[in-house]
Amino acid sequence: MNSDLITSAEEIQHRVRQLGKWFHNINLRGIQTAPEHFLGDYPTFKWRQFERSIPSDLSGKSVLDIGCNGGFYSIEMKKRGADRVVAIDMDDEYLSQARFAAEVLDLDIEFHNLSVYDVAELNEKFDVVLFMGVLYHLRHPLLALDLIREYVADDLFIFQSLQRGSSEVFDPKPNYPFSERDIFEEPGFPKMFFIENKYSDDPTNWWFPNRACVEAMLRSSGFTIKSHPEEEVFVCTVAETPIKHVIPGKERLSYD
Ligand SMILES: C[S@@+](CC[C@H](N)C(=O)[O-])C[C@H]1O[C@@H](n2cnc3c(N)ncnc32)[C@H](O)[C@@H]1O
Repeated sequence: MNSDLITSAEEIQHRVRQLGKWFHNINLRGIQTAPEHFLGDYPTFKWRQFERSIPSDLSGKSVLDIGCNGGFYSIEMKKRGADRVVAIDMDDEYLSQARFAAEVLDLDIEFHNLSVYDVAELNEKFDVVLFMGVLYHLRHPLLALDLIREYVADDLFIFQSLQRGSSEVFDPKPNYPFSERDIFEEPGFPKMFFIENKYSDDPTNWWFPNRACVEAMLRSSGFTIKSHPEEEVFVCTVAETPIKHVIPGKERLSYD
């Protein structure tokens, strides 16, 4: 494909260093991009735990990777034969890393500087949408899920979020009386923890849901959870959006 393929290990090593600090540890023809990652061999060790939940043959499929960072998941999707992989992020430094990784591996991936809030601009629906490790970096997480469901997700939706608090599963009742208070004290009730300042030195960490909250938000935005292969990963399909009415006082949810 690319006749100017970068092959020398020295050149790859040099460019990897030039491209700043990598969050994705990717093997670029024997050169690791983030060998000292604070989480270990990230995200390979996470990927190993859920890779079997995604079709091994993606030929004929289109993929959108939202918040692609250094391109690890886009690369894995392309390796599985996806016809078209579009990868978006709003950080130019990460996008440069991802472009370089794809170039070294000679993989045809389309990159755009685009926020999840602007996915409608893509004007396209994708067979597989990955939304990994982005939700908790957003000030408006439900808005992002609603926009993805409305504008770009056509079938499979692969979701991951950092979680804190209880990992209990919660089955909400259709309604609670105004006098109900105790339910909010239950550890398993859906909750999002708001980080006003920083977490792990990162000022872009805003909201950490517990497991029940992740599941409730996915359902509420119109996704059906098909499997939960790893603590933080949910494999979903697009479902009918349950929100029928948003007028206060009217019934607003229907999971029929
Ligand atoms: C923790 S990293 C996760 C990277 C990758 N998806 C993964 O799972 O390893 C979060 C990424 O989301 C990107 N991001 C943050 N806010 C975003 C937004 N509004 N739209 C698109 N990407 C965003 C960041 O630039 C960063 O690359």
